[in-house]
Amino acid sequence: MKAYILKECGSPENLLQTELPVPLPADDEVLIKVEAISINPVDVKTRAGKALYTSLKHFDPLVLGWDISGTVTAIGKKVTGFKSGDDVFGMVNFVGHGQAYAEFVAAPASQLALKPANISHPEAAAATLAALTAWQALVHHAKLKKGDKILIHAASGGVGHYAVQMAHYPGAKVTGTSSAANKNFVLELGADEHIDYHNRKFEETTTDFDIILETIGGENFIRSLEVLSRTGTIVNLIPDPETSWNDLKNPESTLKIARKRGLNALYFPVTSSGEDMQQIADLMQKGVLKSNVYKIYHFDELKVAHTEMEKGRTKGKIIVTI
Ligand SMILES: NC(=O)c1ccc[n+]([C@@H]2O[C@H](COP(=O)([O-])OP(=O)(O)OC[C@H]3O[C@@H](n4cnc5c(N)ncnc54)[C@H](OP(=O)(O)O)[C@@H]3O)[C@@H](O)[C@H]2O)c1
Repeated sequence: MKAYILKECGSPENLLQTELPVPLPADDEVLIKVEAISINPVDVKTRAGKALYTSLKHFDPLVLGWDISGTVTAIGKKVTGFKSGDDVFGMVNFVGHGQAYAEFVAAPASQLALKPANISHPEAAAATLAALTAWQALVHHAKLKKGDKILIHAASGGVGHYAVQMAHYPGAKVTGTSSAANKNFVLELGADEHIDYHNRKFEETTTDFDIILETIGGENFIRSLEVLSRTGTIVNLIPDPETSWNDLKNPESTLKIARKRGLNALYFPVTSSGEDMQQIADLMQKGVLKSNVYKIYHFDELKVAHTEMEKGRTKGKIIVTI
């Protein structure tokens, strides 16, 4: 099968297309013929030698990628929930070796959900790592409820565009930040208010947010503390530069600053979960949650997809189809 390997970290040119054997599914895994893959900032950071590179570099071959949608072609002996021919999607083995940049992927059945029939493979592949992050942040960590005031930074990005929809649906009051070019997009997703971060300081507008989803890091995190309610929660998706991704449970120093001010702050790494994927599938099936597929590249153009992701201007998700 065709796959991309990373022999050493560096530029997108270091992603080398090659032939690898089709993987054999373990007893708890299914083999998936991949139709679409989504690209995330963590793919790009890891390829460049940051994020997960240190913890993955011993794999030979090292195949990046975690987000897939495709069709089951074989199942392991202990798999009961899926059968050959099922269309499935999910985030495979994050923060481990997902091996998604390939024509076939062996994935634990416990990390997948059936793809709703009304969703295309690119839309499904998009709604994996980014959608899981938004879901786990809002539902598991921030315990979002009706009436909460929530500030979502980078509301037009991969995580943000799902978070806005997920927060709007149960009746939260959503403020989203992005540039002016994405204002209408963010409002159409369900935000009540938009802040163009180039022209307005978000801390000079609304205050007392119950929840802040921090997707930028550094100074943006510290400024966000000024508008967090005393009883609110800030969920930080960005590890501090000095924090090793090998030690993801280590409390961040930005979090310590928040806690010294008596504020509730947390960082979490998204985790592969079939149960959470099922919640996302249900919302997509109902039409409540939609993927904005910003650009689609062919598998042979994966390096170009990385270059595009690196620009930091993605409106929704970048997808690669096979
Ligand atoms: N902890 C975890 O498990 C986890 C999981 C997922 C993601 N993350 C991290 O979270 C971050 C966001 O991920 P993502 O996939 O959503 O990224 P993304 O899709 O690349 O985000 C791009 C968006 O960010 C907006 N943006 C850029 N700078 C901004 C600023 N200063 N203020 C407001 N919006 C800004 C851009 O809007 P404009 O073009 O309009 O400027 C663009 O639409 C990344 O660093 C990623 O690594 C962490």
